[in-house]
Amino acid sequence: MLDQMHVRNVLSQHYDLSPDVKLAESMKDIYDRMDRVVTPPDWVSFAPYVKAINALKKERNAVILGHNYMTPEIFHGVSDFVGDSLQLAMKATDVDADVIVQCGVHFMAETSKILSPEKTVLMPDMAAGCSLAESITADGVEEMRAKYPGAPVVSYVNTTAEVKAASDICCTSSNALQIVNAMESDTVIMTPDQYLAQNIANESHKTVVYWPGSCIVHEQYTAKDLRDFREWNPRTRLIAHPECPPDVVAEADFSGSTSGILKYVTEEKPEKAMLITECSMASNIADELPEVEFVGPCNMCPYMKKITLEKVLYVLHTMDNQVEVDAAVAEKARLSVQRMIDLSRELGI
Ligand code: 13P
Ligand code: SF4
Repeated sequence: MLDQMHVRNVLSQHYDLSPDVKLAESMKDIYDRMDRVVTPPDWVSFAPYVKAINALKKERNAVILGHNYMTPEIFHGVSDFVGDSLQLAMKATDVDADVIVQCGVHFMAETSKILSPEKTVLMPDMAAGCSLAESITADGVEEMRAKYPGAPVVSYVNTTAEVKAASDICCTSSNALQIVNAMESDTVIMTPDQYLAQNIANESHKTVVYWPGSCIVHEQYTAKDLRDFREWNPRTRLIAHPECPPDVVAEADFSGSTSGILKYVTEEKPEKAMLITECSMASNIADELPEVEFVGPCNMCPYMKKITLEKVLYVLHTMDNQVEVDAAVAEKARLSVQRMIDLSRELGI
């Protein structure tokens, strides 16, 4: 784990990171993308980091891949490409750079490394994990195979490289239904998200059996929360991520991956929207959609929130926190991820 004091000491020797009003004003074009959700005093503090990171990126020939759950100053301030898990995985295959800084969680960085082994992949905080990825090991996959002989294993990308290597194909929430439906067998094993699996089973003609993992962010929402909210504010469109339990998804007006949520809100432009997902999702799209009022509670992912501008600058400066994947594991895991990418491209997802 990174020692905060050490990080600060190192950075203070090389950069002037004190809040700077003039600098913040001169970077207004960047601030305009987030001024609905980031206060002016916060921007004055963020601007020196954003400037330093963007300059260092050029020096290192680095790109930053930012997940939709990053905080707005990372998402809008320093990311070169943003998107959901599938979009970031696809980007990792064709991005022209020596270094990838993964602003997201560890399994995403591993996926980038698996797909681009020749690149240096940096993780701003190695402790940015995921409750789903932690819920299963490769032995768990073998347990499922023994229970359901012959059934293919479709593993969510929210898994370690070892689990991907033990699986037949990966999926994300953008393509899970199509991937499951494309399997030849009538029974399909999905790991590790029980709720995503149940939501897919509700839409698929396949028998879906699953591992009992869950996302600590999305499992907190209940169907009653949604009913209560709808009663209190009837004109609000409720939009849920498919990592939510099935009764929550059933109460929602729409369910989709983070990019699916963005597409839906952009096309529908509801007067009010409540995103039943991680907190930063609404913040990151608020400025692009001034006509939509984002309301209601939101839950934070403690893993995603470990990524800060300070840590991004530190790893780019020191080149510490390089993600490595054992070559034999990576080779097998690449097959599962590449099969997913190829099938997604073929299906036009
Ligand atoms: P998306 O693939 O919808 O971005 O969700 C991934 C995820 O679970 C991030 O926590
Ligand atoms: Fe994992 Fe859930 Fe956090 Fe996504 S939101 S990284 S699935 S714990």
